[in-house]
Amino acid sequence: MNLTKRAYNFNAGPSALPVEVLEKAQEELVNYNNSGMSIMEMSHRSKDYDAVHNDAIAHLKSLYSIPDNYEVLFLQGGASLQFTMVPMNFLNEGQKASYVLTGSWSEKAIKEARLFGQTAEAASTKDNAYRNIPSVEEIEYNATDAYVHITSNNTIYGTQWKNFPQTGEVPLVADMSSDILSKPVDVSNFGIIYAGAQKNLGPSGVTVVIIRKDLLEKANMNIPTMLKYSTHADSNSLYNTPPTFGIYMLGEVLKWVEQKGGLEAIERNNEEKAKAIYDVIDNSNGFYKGHATKDSRSLMNITFRVTDEALEKQFLAEAKEAGFVGLNGHRSVGGCRASTYNAVPFEACKALADFMIEFQNKHQ
Ligand SMILES: Cc1ncc(COP(=O)(O)O)c(C=O)c1O
Repeated sequence: MNLTKRAYNFNAGPSALPVEVLEKAQEELVNYNNSGMSIMEMSHRSKDYDAVHNDAIAHLKSLYSIPDNYEVLFLQGGASLQFTMVPMNFLNEGQKASYVLTGSWSEKAIKEARLFGQTAEAASTKDNAYRNIPSVEEIEYNATDAYVHITSNNTIYGTQWKNFPQTGEVPLVADMSSDILSKPVDVSNFGIIYAGAQKNLGPSGVTVVIIRKDLLEKANMNIPTMLKYSTHADSNSLYNTPPTFGIYMLGEVLKWVEQKGGLEAIERNNEEKAKAIYDVIDNSNGFYKGHATKDSRSLMNITFRVTDEALEKQFLAEAKEAGFVGLNGHRSVGGCRASTYNAVPFEACKALADFMIEFQNKHQ
C-alpha cells in the first residue's frame, strides 16, 4: 500500500511520475536483479542493462504499434537538440523546410533550421496569440520540401493538434514532447517523432526519437558523428554511454501505461481529468478565462487566467498554500497553467476543480 503523501503536482516538466514506478525504482535502487548494484552503477554493455534497454524499445514499439520500418532511438540533449538535429540531417542548402508555428517551441525549432537552409511558415497562429491550432487545410508546403514540422502539443499556450496533416511524400516531423504517450497515434503518418522524456515518459535526460528508416539513408552524412541519426540507429543507441537510469525509468513508465490498459485507456483518463478543470472554467461566467480556443484545447496543459490580475495573484498564492504545485503559467506568458500529464491522478484534477469553484465562490 502506498502511504507516501504525494503533492498535487501540476508541474509542466519535469513533472509527476507514476508513484508505482517510483516505488519500484526505490525497491530496486540498491540491488538491481540481484546484481549487487544499482542499474546506475553497471556497465551499459552488461547483460542486465541490455535487457532493460531492449525492453524499453520493445514496449514503446508495442504500445504505439510502431511499424518495422521505424527505428526507436534514445538520445540526449533534450527536444532542444532535436531542433538542431532535424535540419542538420535533413535540410540541405538550397532546400526548404516548412514549419507550422503554434507557439514558442515551434519558434525555437524554426530558428535552428534557419541556420541550415531555407525555411517557410506553413501556417502560423501567432496573430491569434497562439490560441489555436490551424486547420490542416490551412497548411501550405511544397512537394519538394525537405519536411514539414509541427509541435503536437504546445506546452506554454495549452493547445493541441486533434488531427494531423497528411503530408504524403513529404516527411512530417513532430515535436511530441508534451503529449507523447497520452493517446494513440498512427506512427506511420510521421517521418520523425521526437520528445524529451520529462513529461509523460520519465525523468529528464533521455530524448526519444522514432524515425522512419528510409530517412536515415537520405540524411546528410557530412556532419558530426554524434549528431547523425544513423550513428545511433546503427548502434541501437549504444554508440556512447546512454542515460541508463533514465532509460530504465522510461521502461518502467511504459509498463505502467500497459498496466493501465494502454494508450486508449490513458486517453480516456486524460479526457476525464481535463474535463473536470475545463468544466469549471466554462461554468465560471468569465471568472476564469481559458487561453486556448475550445477546438484546440490541450488535454495536457490547461492554461487560463483569473478575471483580474490582483485576484489571479491571490489565486496562485492560495492554491500554493492549499498544496497545489506548479500552477503558475510559463514565465513568458504568465497566467495559470495546470499540466495534467498521464501520471497526474484524476483525484488531483478533481481537487483543483473543487478548489477553483471554492475560490470563485469566495471572491466574486
Ligand atoms: C513542446 C516542447 N518542445 C521542446 C521542449 C524543450 O525540451 P527540452 O528541455 O527537453 O530541450 C519543451 C520543454 O518543455 C516542450 O514542451
